[in-house]
Amino acid sequence: MRRTIPVLLLSSLMVAPVWAQSPAVIDQLLNEYQSAGASAPNASAGEALYNREQSGRSCTSCHTPDPRAAGKHQRTGKRIEPLAPSANPERLTDERQIEKWFYRNCKWTLGRECTAQEKSDFLTWLRDQ
Ligand code: HEC
Repeated sequence: MRRTIPVLLLSSLMVAPVWAQSPAVIDQLLNEYQSAGASAPNASAGEALYNREQSGRSCTSCHTPDPRAAGKHQRTGKRIEPLAPSANPERLTDERQIEKWFYRNCKWTLGRECTAQEKSDFLTWLRDQ
């Protein structure tokens, strides 16, 4: 008994930060976007961005209309794991990853980078999906 208690404590400590990570990363990013000039995030504007089509391209082209579903890369056909954190706990946990894909995907889809406001809106919508 004496030996199992520390092991249990240790494993619960190791699990806790992973759980807490997602909101912390998003809150941090939302703060950064506000410093960059974004006003209060608007989840329905984020949803609209996800569905907005421009020159036949939209976020749904690869991520499907349902962010909880697995997608498929429109160009390469490769499987893309679901974007919604409820369906894929690895989502929205890594700031560098999020920024890297925002940069690439906004350029591909909209022909330009997303603004701080658009990123705030989008993350605020997606975090609850
Ligand atoms: C041409 C295909 C394609 C389109 C269109 C696309 N994405 Fe992606 N997206 C990807 C791929 C590929 C990844 C990275 C692979 C992975 O993480 O499964 C990714 C990853 C992401 C991530 C990273 C999330 C995380 O935490 O891992 C975000 C955020 C994202 N996309 C947002 C968007 C938004 C917003 C749009 C529309 C403006 C969009 N994507 C359009 C292919 C696409």
